[in-house]
Amino acid sequence: MLEEYLDFAVRMAEEAGRIQLAYFRGDDLAMKTKSNVSDVVTRADRESEELIVRRIAERYPTHAVLGEEGGARGDAAGEWRWVVDPLDGTTNYSQGLPVFCVSIALQHRGETVVGVVYAPYLRELFTAVRGGGAWCRRGAGEPVRLQVSAKQELARSVVATGFPYDKSENPDNNSDNVARILPRVRDVRRMGSAAYDLACVASSMLDGFWELNLHEWDVCAGNLLVTEAGGVVESLRPDRGISLVAGNATLVGYMKQYVR
Ligand code: IPD
Ligand code: CA
Ligand code: CA
Repeated sequence: MLEEYLDFAVRMAEEAGRIQLAYFRGDDLAMKTKSNVSDVVTRADRESEELIVRRIAERYPTHAVLGEEGGARGDAAGEWRWVVDPLDGTTNYSQGLPVFCVSIALQHRGETVVGVVYAPYLRELFTAVRGGGAWCRRGAGEPVRLQVSAKQELARSVVATGFPYDKSENPDNNSDNVARILPRVRDVRRMGSAAYDLACVASSMLDGFWELNLHEWDVCAGNLLVTEAGGVVESLRPDRGISLVAGNATLVGYMKQYVR
């Protein structure tokens, strides 16, 4: 049953990925700002979400959907809910930078059971089903089982983060955390896509990740990838949206000494 949902989610992610590649680096993005000048949306975000929502409604009409662009649809009290970020990494996308992805999760009674993160330009497909491990298929290659980094020292770790869209109005914008942790790690990355950051943690391309003020659609699929790859995702604080730190248990413990 869950495998059937996974296959369906992968097909939707690939279809949305084709929309994104069709507009990528073109002059027809129809870009607009949302909450402020840093928060942008393009035609590819909107069309990807419309496609995914339409496919879910056709196939599973009783399932609820939470999507970044269209909000909540359907019966949120029902058993099944899809959580969709149609294009995570829109700032990268709008600049012609290739780190962007589709993030699709399926929850059953509030528990995430399927997660798909697909980066179409990079041709990387990350998938997880609860209890079945996390996997990555690159291009036409065979799926490889993922395992989080085994590093036990912050000094050898490369960690990533991101910055909230209200960074200019709210001084609680993560720059203090970067200043504290930067001298302690091998390096810090700002990849520009929280879903892809979590996929990188699952596949040990990153040793750790933290960010404040994320939303469910940014992290649902990626969190399952990390936990199914043997990692942990811990909440950093309750007052700033979804604020989390991810990695192996040892590194998460060390990171929490510097980020909050
Ligand atoms: C954003 C990306 C970014 C993170 C922001 C998110 P979007 O999502 O995940 O890395 O720092 O907080 O809002 O807007 O590109 O879907
Ligand atoms: Ca996002
Ligand atoms: Ca998005």
